[in-house]
Amino acid sequence: MLVIRNAAQVVCVAADRSPRKCGADLRNIQVHAQASVILRGERIDWIGPTAALPPLPAYAQILDATGKTVLPGFVDSHTHLVFAGARADEFEQRLNGATYQEIAARGGGINASVQRVRQAAVEELTALARPRLQRLLAFGVTTVEVKSGYGLSLADEIKSLQVIAALNREGPWELVPTFLGAHAVPPEYRDDRAGYLRLLVEEMLPAVAEGQLAEFCDVFCETGVFSLDESRTLLAAAAKLGFKLKLHADELTPLGGAELAAQLQATSADHLLCITERGIDALAAIGTVATLLPGTAFFLGMHYAPARKLIERGVAVALASDCNPGTCPTENLPLVGAMACTQMKMLPAEVVSALTINAAAALGRAERIGSLEPGKQADLTIFDVPDFRHLFYHFGVNHVWRVIKRGRVVHAA
Ligand code: NIG
Ligand code: FE
Repeated sequence: MLVIRNAAQVVCVAADRSPRKCGADLRNIQVHAQASVILRGERIDWIGPTAALPPLPAYAQILDATGKTVLPGFVDSHTHLVFAGARADEFEQRLNGATYQEIAARGGGINASVQRVRQAAVEELTALARPRLQRLLAFGVTTVEVKSGYGLSLADEIKSLQVIAALNREGPWELVPTFLGAHAVPPEYRDDRAGYLRLLVEEMLPAVAEGQLAEFCDVFCETGVFSLDESRTLLAAAAKLGFKLKLHADELTPLGGAELAAQLQATSADHLLCITERGIDALAAIGTVATLLPGTAFFLGMHYAPARKLIERGVAVALASDCNPGTCPTENLPLVGAMACTQMKMLPAEVVSALTINAAAALGRAERIGSLEPGKQADLTIFDVPDFRHLFYHFGVNHVWRVIKRGRVVHAA
């Protein structure tokens, strides 16, 4: 038994009956002042005022959280952290005026990382991804979605997914693997797009399904990358094999990816910087989670996704890092939350929901994680701040004091 005693705030973000928070409910995060939490095994057992704590057995381990704030462990529902090498050269080229698309057309961008991943063995990729997960954990992130997508051949995509599986077994984090073989068309298929799509549908997807190597299938649906039709073909095939669906949608151009995500009842549509009015209506109608990635807009110097409009129209908004070597090389998820506040005008309470319960919903896990409620998995982070707003107000630094995964302290600052 682990008891978190006398926190200044315990932020529950309870899910009520709905598995995700929309509209005005997004800011309803149930903050208990001067509260305590009892964890029993891997579950949350009790939450209430410190004054009402039941008598504790002598064997109970006590964490004195006086002056601190307890939140559900953050869920990072969109990362590309299996990669080798860096792309600081492209960062500088963009600062000199080149666009992301121009750099990609010259063979840089995603395909630059593909070259490096193809040369790396499983062990090397694992050793490179591990510290990225350790940094995420140190920022209070206890569950992480991780995509393949820098292999782009059967063997190299399987290799990337094996890295994710190995790191998931290792823990203490919980990883959710996504197959993103449709991240770019690799150079050897430049003149045979149809051939690459066949490879994806006929060989890669069945092999990934057979090996149970991914839970989600994602596509970079974008002008010049995968068209709406190509994305639909691939995602429909994935759904038939039992994959849940995600989509990189309307990131750089308003192609209609959000509408496609809704049509296919995808779990989430991600990025959405260029989402259209019709796209917003479609997501709201189906309940597909809109995962916004303001770190990417920041790093590319682009405009931000219309978070306020999405919230007002009843879309369930989540936030994630997009941690990747090209468009968002950071593991600082609370900083991404600060960007959501200052650049997209989300309230701190809305950001908390977007990083916890709605991010869990974007991974189909809101029943088990993403809020603090008796019976739910004991994934919590204790921050050395007196009030949850300080997480985004005092920005850019790490406020984590302890991270707890499945009832065990797995990180201490
Ligand atoms: O989410 N948009 C596509 N994929 C990544 C970028 C990947 C890269 O440039 O390496 C993203 O922004
Ligand atoms: Fe991404």
